[in-house]
Amino acid sequence: MTTNLLFPQNLKSYISQSPYQAYVYSYPHKTAYRPINPPISLADAWKQEDKNSLFLYIHIPFCEMRCGFCNLFTTVTHNEDFVTQYVRTLQRQSQRIKTALGSAKFARFAIGGGTPTQLPIHHLETVFNIAEETMGVRLQEIPISVEMSPETATIDKLKLLRSRGVDRASIGIQSFIESEVLATGRRQSTTQVKAALTRMCEAGFPTINIDLIYGLPGQTIDTWLQSIHVALHFQPEEIYLYPLYVRPLTGLGCSDKEWDDIRLGCYHHGRSLLLSQGYTQVSMRMFQRISTPSIPSPIYCCQADGMVGLGCGARSYTNALHYSNEYAVGGKGIRDILQGYIQTPENEFDYVCYGFQLDGEERRRRYILLSLLTDEGLNLSDYQQRFATDVYSDFPELRELLSLNLATQNEQSLRLTEFGIERSDTIGAWFFSKKVRRLMQTYELR
Ligand SMILES: C[S@@+](CC[C@H](N)C(=O)[O-])C[C@H]1O[C@@H](n2cnc3c(N)ncnc32)[C@H](O)[C@@H]1O
Ligand code: SF4
Repeated sequence: MTTNLLFPQNLKSYISQSPYQAYVYSYPHKTAYRPINPPISLADAWKQEDKNSLFLYIHIPFCEMRCGFCNLFTTVTHNEDFVTQYVRTLQRQSQRIKTALGSAKFARFAIGGGTPTQLPIHHLETVFNIAEETMGVRLQEIPISVEMSPETATIDKLKLLRSRGVDRASIGIQSFIESEVLATGRRQSTTQVKAALTRMCEAGFPTINIDLIYGLPGQTIDTWLQSIHVALHFQPEEIYLYPLYVRPLTGLGCSDKEWDDIRLGCYHHGRSLLLSQGYTQVSMRMFQRISTPSIPSPIYCCQADGMVGLGCGARSYTNALHYSNEYAVGGKGIRDILQGYIQTPENEFDYVCYGFQLDGEERRRRYILLSLLTDEGLNLSDYQQRFATDVYSDFPELRELLSLNLATQNEQSLRLTEFGIERSDTIGAWFFSKKVRRLMQTYELR
């Protein structure tokens, strides 16, 4: 997702600027990845890793449409043959990866995109077979999450997902106000959206997640709250409230400052509404229904180390190495990279050629970012145990969080305050290392 990264400054000047600087869903961001020379063999990359509870992520880069705000690695294709070749390539890649990993156990599995349910049903079935038969995932025993869009959440596909053990269905809706989504180039009828949600509820997924976006063209706080009310009608176990990060082509007709104010207003009102309706805030974007049984949510945990990514846009994480294919956002760049993926000769899947090697400092920053930006906060003794050093000796600048009322500290942990959670996208960007910041700023987007 987009970053509006500013130059390194002290936290105080950071906080006085836009609250929307970088969505830190992982660290380092993919735009900090670069070619790795010489390539590292997969077997070497995974040799020292604990492989007893890995996360498998399969990426499906296809969608029914390209929404004007979306900068994920995905494409619209009507070429069935191409989709078939993509699924065959997933099969080939999975065999090589499994050989390199050796014995491995998976504790979580997610299929994301793009829109996985855009695949024809027989291909969707093959994707589960790859996970089960090639990768050895015990589908009925672990949490599985799948992303979908309203139009592609058909009864037959939902039934298939349930029968293969999927317990979390995550649907991108963005807004229940038709004119708001249409203004972003997303064709979506609210009647169809409601019908899709009804089908999902009837299919019996233990966890349903709804994604909504604020800061859309034409959206006001009133229409935003209307959308949340409609979502609440379906009592989803989770709701994600995303601030819009990319100005859609249709524009918004307001200055950056006005847009920031609209997004902040939507955040405050949306958050209050969800808290009043029995939801708890897990992070700036994620809200969970309090009665929801605490099963580990695959999406939410996906930044943990030990992630094996399969597919063209998937990332993989070991403790010391993050890697993926090259990345693009523009249509041509994406199509070229996808072409390259399906033409990859067998033995090339055995090597890591593009990624980021994490030294001790980057591993610590990653650990801090991924814990601090959630409700649990940064557990100080866990940090001490893991890295054999004190967090404030490593990063004295973290004390600024306390003096600016962005975090509080008790004996156990450093936790963001209500204001700190609201400013997560600023705190995250501020804490990036100089090296990551420089790589992100010099990245040339294709
Ligand atoms: C992989 S997509 C979800 C599934 C599905 N493709 C769909 O859109 O219906 C993940 C979510 O990221 C959010 N998202 C994507 N691009 C965004 C942007 N530029 N700003 C804010 N949120 C965004 C949307 O809420 C989207 O549902
Ligand atoms: S928001 Fe979802 S449906 Fe739209 S282009 Fe992005 S991944 Fe595809």
